[in-house]
Amino acid sequence: MSNLIIVGAQWGDEGKGKIVDMLTDRFDIVARYQGGHNAGHTVIIEGKKYILHLIPSGILHPKKLCVIGNGVVVDPSALKKEIDGLERAGISCRGRLFISNRAHVILEYHRLAEKQDEDNRGEWRIGTTNRGIGPAYEDKMGRRGLRFCDFLNPRVLRQSIETGIQAKQALLPSIKDVSADELCVAAQKLADELAEYVTDTAELLNQGIDDGKSVLFEGAQGNLLDIDHGTYPYVTASSATAGGASTGTGVGPTRIGGVLGVSKAYTTRVGEGPFPTELLDGLGENIRKAGQEFGTSTGRPRRCGWLDAMVVRYAKMINNLDSLVITKMDVLDSLPEIKICTGYRYKGDLLKSFPPEIGVLAECRPEYVTVKGWDSKTAGIREYEELPRQAKDYINRIVDLVGMEVSLVSTGPDRCETAVVSPDSRLSRLLPPIA
Ligand code: GDP
Ligand code: IMO
Ligand code: MG
Repeated sequence: MSNLIIVGAQWGDEGKGKIVDMLTDRFDIVARYQGGHNAGHTVIIEGKKYILHLIPSGILHPKKLCVIGNGVVVDPSALKKEIDGLERAGISCRGRLFISNRAHVILEYHRLAEKQDEDNRGEWRIGTTNRGIGPAYEDKMGRRGLRFCDFLNPRVLRQSIETGIQAKQALLPSIKDVSADELCVAAQKLADELAEYVTDTAELLNQGIDDGKSVLFEGAQGNLLDIDHGTYPYVTASSATAGGASTGTGVGPTRIGGVLGVSKAYTTRVGEGPFPTELLDGLGENIRKAGQEFGTSTGRPRRCGWLDAMVVRYAKMINNLDSLVITKMDVLDSLPEIKICTGYRYKGDLLKSFPPEIGVLAECRPEYVTVKGWDSKTAGIREYEELPRQAKDYINRIVDLVGMEVSLVSTGPDRCETAVVSPDSRLSRLLPPIA
């Protein structure tokens, strides 16, 4: 059963897009299962940069099928733009991109509702991406959302838009500026343009697996942004953890063989919320510069800090990670010393598990081990044995502190800048055979 889930083991932007693209060769289908265009997944191939928001990162492989599952919330206009952008770059989505007929639709008023909600929160704002993601999931859970199957039906579409606007009127002053007629006309045009991609993707995926095809499930965001397991309320509105792959695609959990976690060699976070190992000094700024840590979707500077083994161990448990990828090793190339957080102290006591209370997390004092940096570059190295000794020591420390294998080390943004730690990893046994 060679179906694999890729999840972020931190607060998102771990380099999932690069790893998904790199592994797509081994799979037949790549499926997104949650989130929306709040995600920004970067793939660089021979110097050319592609940023995917809604479309799976496997799309750059011309023969592979890509699925946007039922758990994703889709802004039709953002999706159309993304399809058109890829077409202009010579990558056709026709006949190989499939949108679930059960995926929910993001409309203009979801974005307005999000802005209003963030304004109302004032200093307690979440720092969302303002893409309408949260309000669209709210409507889904409130059982008043619009799914793609209904989006394609002009009568149901109009009815849904009219009641959606009405329902939001009391809470949302700016909705007065939204005309139901104009929204219907624009939505109808997009529905016509996207209709060819809409299908029952649960059928497609399960039939594919029955026929011996393999599926790579591409997570968006990361463990600590998950609605249930993340640093609530500073989270996104979907199930970003491995469990979401099943509900978000309609592929039963026992049909999925393994889970691969992705973590940077340090930690970043965008938006508000506690971040115990954050570096608020010049060192944080240096890492931001070296790693070009600016949001792929919003351009916001990412907050930077040391690698936190407490965070990655928590991701290991919640997702039952089989294996771990460490990305952006090269960003630490010039540091004389590197710290790793081994655990948290709260009011003098060492915590045994990741705390659910945001106030507690904010007051946790990280315990660190300090390791020597490496004196030569890792940037671009593709053979694990060629990594400097201290860089390998750093990876071994991570293995010890997290208690699991590291199977791949990424040393640059390009598709090919990756080193395989061992040919006999647990990951290698989870991947489908090379076709
Ligand atoms: P994702 O959301 O998890 O797919 O990650 P993003 O694409 O938002 O952010 C990761 C950033 O790091 C992108 O700009 C990638 O091109 C870049 N990147 C990925 N792996 C590496 C690496 O090993 N080294 C360096 N320097 N950059 C990397
Ligand atoms: P990828 O898939 C990093 C963050 C936002 C905000 C919080 C809630 O590229 O890793 P939302 O708009 O989702 O309601 O915002 O979640 N966030 C991300 N941070 N990477 C992402 O996606 C993110 N998607 C959302 O910054 O703090
Ligand atoms: Mg990203």
